[in-house]
Amino acid sequence: MKYRYLGGMQVSQFALGTWHLPPSSKKDDSGIFYVDKEKSDKIFKKAVDLGINFFDTANTYHGTISETHLHPEHSGNAERILGQYLKGGERESYVVATKVRAEVALFPNGGGLSRKHISWQIKQSLSRLELDYIDLYQIHWQDPNTPPAETMSILNDLVHHGMVHYLGTSNHPPDSTVQMIDITREHGWEPFVSMQESYNILDRDVEKDKIRIARDNNMALLAYVPLAEGLLTGKYLTGVPSGSRAGYTEGFRRKIEKSLTQVKRISEISKELQITPSQLALAWLLRKQEEFGISIIPILGATDEQHLESNVEALNIRIPNDAYKQINELG
Ligand SMILES: NC(=O)c1ccc[n+]([C@@H]2O[C@H](COP(=O)([O-])OP(=O)(O)OC[C@H]3O[C@@H](n4cnc5c(N)ncnc54)[C@H](OP(=O)(O)O)[C@@H]3O)[C@@H](O)[C@H]2O)c1
Repeated sequence: MKYRYLGGMQVSQFALGTWHLPPSSKKDDSGIFYVDKEKSDKIFKKAVDLGINFFDTANTYHGTISETHLHPEHSGNAERILGQYLKGGERESYVVATKVRAEVALFPNGGGLSRKHISWQIKQSLSRLELDYIDLYQIHWQDPNTPPAETMSILNDLVHHGMVHYLGTSNHPPDSTVQMIDITREHGWEPFVSMQESYNILDRDVEKDKIRIARDNNMALLAYVPLAEGLLTGKYLTGVPSGSRAGYTEGFRRKIEKSLTQVKRISEISKELQITPSQLALAWLLRKQEEFGISIIPILGATDEQHLESNVEALNIRIPNDAYKQINELG
């Protein structure tokens, strides 16, 4: 494993995400799959064995995806499952990131980035994760109803109370990110050290503005859905394999058709290089670090230990210039 810096803190070149853990075969009363905890624990262990020290979760993640939207009663389940695993190890060897913003209750102040909501949710996340502090606390997406200075002020307080060590953004529009950065500078508050954004061969929106903002402000880019939820593994080129994410999420199935031509080409290039399409997609993201001069940490998702084992091999792959150029032109 290689390690990169978030502020002064070292994190593995790959993080492991918990949005979508392996589902069990049973659903609960609201039609949502339970998480297969035994299998999840094996994935966490494999990650640690591979040198991954960086885990990403959110106060809203249940751990399996549902078609139906708001189910506050499921919020935080992924934090619980991750916390239960991590407490068996050495806390100081792990870097734990979580997020706040989503509606986790149906009453007023049940979501958002207000002082009230954040003050409540930090305690909930710490309790579910069974931790004394969070390494990286991220604001999941914009809350247009809370003045940015209110959010930044409570985040700064959390750091000074020792509940949080570092701060990060996610999914904020470029102008709002710059505005928040300016506010923290003006007040001498704790800075953001990371920006968590969708980034993969099929989604390069961050290259427009956000990468520049991250570089100018010493923020690492945490790249979520680095394999476009599995599309870039090439597994959907010949249909939808049973048990795969698209097998039980209709919304995701609709995306497959649109990406087929690009994924087919990626699959051909990977064959020429004798690597898997996933390894190619991840090695491409790692090479982007050189092009843009910032740290890019892909947040991997896995429903099987083998996924991790194979995908982490991307660390040892350098894509030849020709192939890199061809992939860039596909996006
Ligand atoms: N900040 C945000 O708003 C936000 C949003 C989304 C995600 N995230 C973060 O990003 C993390 C990663 O998201 P993601 O899970 O969508 O990432 P991803 O890496 O794009 O997709 C992972 C999925 O692809 C499939 N897969 C991966 N490697 C494979 C292999 N070698 N062979 C076959 N299938 C393979 C698996 O799905 P199946 O086996 O189920 O098909 C796996 O769950 C999340 O856990 C979360 O922490 C953040």
